[in-house]
Amino acid sequence: MQDFGLEAIGEAARYAVLWNTGAYAGASMGTPGEFSTPLMDKLTRHIVNSVKRGYLGTDGRPLRILEVGAGSGGHAVMLVRRGERLRRDGKLPEGLEVIANDYADPPIQMIVAKKAGLKPYLQERLQVFPGDISVCLRAQPPGSIAATHAQSVYHGWREGERRRVYSETVNVLAEYGIVAGSFKAAGDHRYGRGELLEQTAAGPVCRDTDTISRLFVEHREPLIGELRDAGLFVFDDFFWPVQAAYEGDGSRVHKVYWGFLAAKRDASERYAVNGQA
Ligand SMILES: C[S@@+](CC[C@H](N)C(=O)[O-])C[C@H]1O[C@@H](n2cnc3c(N)ncnc32)[C@H](O)[C@@H]1O
Repeated sequence: MQDFGLEAIGEAARYAVLWNTGAYAGASMGTPGEFSTPLMDKLTRHIVNSVKRGYLGTDGRPLRILEVGAGSGGHAVMLVRRGERLRRDGKLPEGLEVIANDYADPPIQMIVAKKAGLKPYLQERLQVFPGDISVCLRAQPPGSIAATHAQSVYHGWREGERRRVYSETVNVLAEYGIVAGSFKAAGDHRYGRGELLEQTAAGPVCRDTDTISRLFVEHREPLIGELRDAGLFVFDDFFWPVQAAYEGDGSRVHKVYWGFLAAKRDASERYAVNGQA
């Protein structure tokens, strides 16, 4: 676990303990969502549309995507590969560059190993940033990030922490940049398990037997409101299920996520058009 002299946001320290003891392998590894998700697919489509319409400029450089809480790195690597494919197809003139961030050492080492397995020109497109998300965001130049992507991460953060991350994200986002993120939601296999810590307007926060506390989204409006308060306009949001067989006893595990795509409020009209495209 890294120590940057700042307390890590949310459940990062507890996740790190699980990663370090081998009790955890990330939310998506070994599931049908290991390499992509509906959220990531939509994000990619919106990026391509935005470049086509001139909202996201490339200035002769790759568009930078920050992969928040990257875990085992399947999504970060897929975004790099997808960026290269889109560059070759002429849809993204310079492709994508991905900054993969995670607080815990084991996932960082997994991403470093995956990076080493890429062709050299793709390795250049994958940066690895160990540490807390807040430290990572503050290290980025203002306006330098075209999109952030956080699959199965936000539910580990409490309201004040989300608000802080949202406003730090807005600071680094390009003018028409996109924020894509997901939370666990009602109906997930962990929903209703463990100790109820707090019933929030968005849903219950429960600490499960794995020590992690999570928010399970029952009502999306309060979360959309938090994003709006930070200057982010949600232009698409949806729930989706993931069926995975990974528990020790081989039983089917049903995961449910709520995901959103948001842009800076002043981009709202343009993304409303994009959303219908
Ligand atoms: C539920 S896992 C999801 C991992 C990956 N996105 C996936 O889909 O498999 C959450 C990840 O976020 C990381 N994380 C949690 N809080 C963090 C923070 N404050 N800064 C950086 N990473 C964090 C954890 O270490 C963990 O790997």
